[in-house]
Amino acid sequence: MSATGPAAVRSPDFDYRGSILHIESLNLELLAQRFGTPLYVYSRAAITAAWLRFSHAFEGNSLSVRYAVKANSNLAILQLLAKLGAGFDIVSVGELERVLRAGGDPTGIVFSGVGKREDEMRRALEVGIQCFNVESEAELLRLSVLAGNQGKPAAVALRINPQVETGTHPHIATGHRDAKFGIDIQRAEALYRQATKLPGIRIIGIACHIGSQITQPAPFLDAARRIMALVDNLLENGSVLQQVDLGGGFGVRYRDESQLDVTALIGQLRQLVEKRGLKLILEPGRALVAEAGVLLTRVEYLKTTDQDRFAIVDAGMTELIRPPLYNAWHEIRVVTQRPGMPSEIYDVVGPVCESADTLGRDRQLTVQTGDLLAIMDAGAYGFSMSSNYNSRPRAAEVLVDGDHANLIRRRETLDELITHEELPC
Ligand code: LLP
Repeated sequence: MSATGPAAVRSPDFDYRGSILHIESLNLELLAQRFGTPLYVYSRAAITAAWLRFSHAFEGNSLSVRYAVKANSNLAILQLLAKLGAGFDIVSVGELERVLRAGGDPTGIVFSGVGKREDEMRRALEVGIQCFNVESEAELLRLSVLAGNQGKPAAVALRINPQVETGTHPHIATGHRDAKFGIDIQRAEALYRQATKLPGIRIIGIACHIGSQITQPAPFLDAARRIMALVDNLLENGSVLQQVDLGGGFGVRYRDESQLDVTALIGQLRQLVEKRGLKLILEPGRALVAEAGVLLTRVEYLKTTDQDRFAIVDAGMTELIRPPLYNAWHEIRVVTQRPGMPSEIYDVVGPVCESADTLGRDRQLTVQTGDLLAIMDAGAYGFSMSSNYNSRPRAAEVLVDGDHANLIRRRETLDELITHEELPC
């Protein structure tokens, strides 16, 4: 991930008051005492502020932001975004049910993903989603049959792989030549022709998503130009298109990445799309929630070896897998500052029995056993990628609104860990 420019500027919703880190008006030490650790804490104000950046960029047009549910799928977060006016980008029937239960409008849902099962398609047809972003010929044929059987035509955009380089981590790049995602841009026109003849299929647009945590405008513009060239050919040949979905991927500043100017970028994308009389859709996930969340964790032990000093904490890769999986960097802050006390360099590691279970390497911290640390920017792909590995109950989640803390998911119990298991008789 690129590393230029000055250090990240934090949202005002996460600030020290005196020596203690607060979220909005609430003291994080007190939140940790009340709800225990590890604990995800999100700021409603920060999510709202992130949302406004996108919605302002769409001003004057009907709003078409489809929040990528996978980034953080807690019902309360979905409800908040639905109330703000978001639609949703889903990749499973599980995400679909979450959106519906959170009060999301089915007609504002786009369904992405390379491996949609029949039952998932059926349910999406039944509730009447806005659009299926179809990723292969085989998927198109399956959808045609199901939609025909259900007597409900499926609105479809073909997800095209525009084959651009994004400069992001290879695990989260999706628009390159050998990706499993989307339809090769060279095959697209033929598939559009085929699609118009298929029963049950109503082509309404085109889609792409080139990857995640992209911090430069160039890859987005590059992809958009390639897609628009294809759109021009399709329109010339008589296709009827209404919408262009350019996906998500808008990067945030975890460390010192350059700050993506989302407003300017959306302005450029809109121009490309709107001058053809089409509607722009975007699917941001991370950009709406990453900076709005922290993961609170307590130091269980300090340990010195020949080589290193470790701060062993009670959160690990089970709560935040991004550092081990993508070598991702998250700022780690002490919740209570201890001015005048010496600092040391620590590797901050979790309790999980994997050497990869490291949340941050070589961090200068002033800490003692029992202190609380805040892993910053954990609002996206934190809880949603968490697991029960090592039989660890999943952590609780809290949504702060001013001076009020709402428990939006309670901590799992030990009983819940085994609740679906049976001993054979
Ligand atoms: N649309 C589609 C079709 C996607 O596959 C994704 C993310 C998004 C939208 C939202 O992307 P975002 O705006 O959040 O970058 N677990 C990784 C990120 C994987 C993203 C997968 N697809 C991470 O923690 O960095």
